[in-house]
Amino acid sequence: MANDSAIQGNRQPGLHVAIIMDGNGRWAARQGLPRVAGHRVGVLTARRIVEHADEIGIRCLTLYAFSSDNWRRPAAEVTRVFWLLRAFLRMETARLRERGVRFEAIGRRDRIPEAALRTMERTEEVTAGGSGLHLRVAIDYSSRDAIARAACEAAALSDEALFRPDMLRSMVTQALAGDCGEVDLLIRTGGEKRLSDFLLWECAYAELAFTERMWPEFDEADLDAAIAEFRHRERRFGGVPEPPMKQVSEPAGQPVSA
Ligand code: FPP
Repeated sequence: MANDSAIQGNRQPGLHVAIIMDGNGRWAARQGLPRVAGHRVGVLTARRIVEHADEIGIRCLTLYAFSSDNWRRPAAEVTRVFWLLRAFLRMETARLRERGVRFEAIGRRDRIPEAALRTMERTEEVTAGGSGLHLRVAIDYSSRDAIARAACEAAALSDEALFRPDMLRSMVTQALAGDCGEVDLLIRTGGEKRLSDFLLWECAYAELAFTERMWPEFDEADLDAAIAEFRHRERRFGGVPEPPMKQVSEPAGQPVSA
């Protein structure tokens, strides 16, 4: 864990960081271990990164734990991932609450194994009053599916939204981004450079950071480095760079008008 003074100098208020935690399987294979061993170490990484994100004052952290396409994996691996997610939540809920972290699961809920779903919902309930880090974990998540569902809900709520793209757009943004807002920085570990159906709408103006580090070996310093690099980027949101301040010299003897 980083020391207190380093943390004080590294506060990141207002930031929404999202992470595609990739590379568990490859990391395990490189150690001569089964893939699930990578997931087990991946959970420990998630635990450390959540704690660090909270310490440095990140406002919202969204982690991609299980995509809707991950159901294609061998059943034994899927079972193990849900077992690990549940174990993580059971182990961490009290600590999350103590620290004021608010946990929220995003994604479909109707296909999640019952025990895991119960644990997720209990963690949501217990941490609902948290006013610190907002931790969102994407489980059975597909961004295209989430966008389509948000659009359907908006249309069901308001006939007008069907004919007013501006209105539909703001309703969809509200449904998807909620109080986390859009993503500022998206990090993907594991060396691949793609979005894999993650937060496509909310990342419209996100800065992207790709690292070769596999998720089990990603650490607090890697997160700090990605944020430091992000802070040097110029975010223009489609505008133009700020012109440099001009030094205007007063003509001699002229009065200065307001
Ligand atoms: C990505 O690595 C990992 C997953 C899809 C599995 C789920 C993530 C965890 C268990 C981390 C823990 C998260 C929380 C919030 C507790 P991969 O298997 O796709 O790796 P590969 O690309 O090397 O095969």
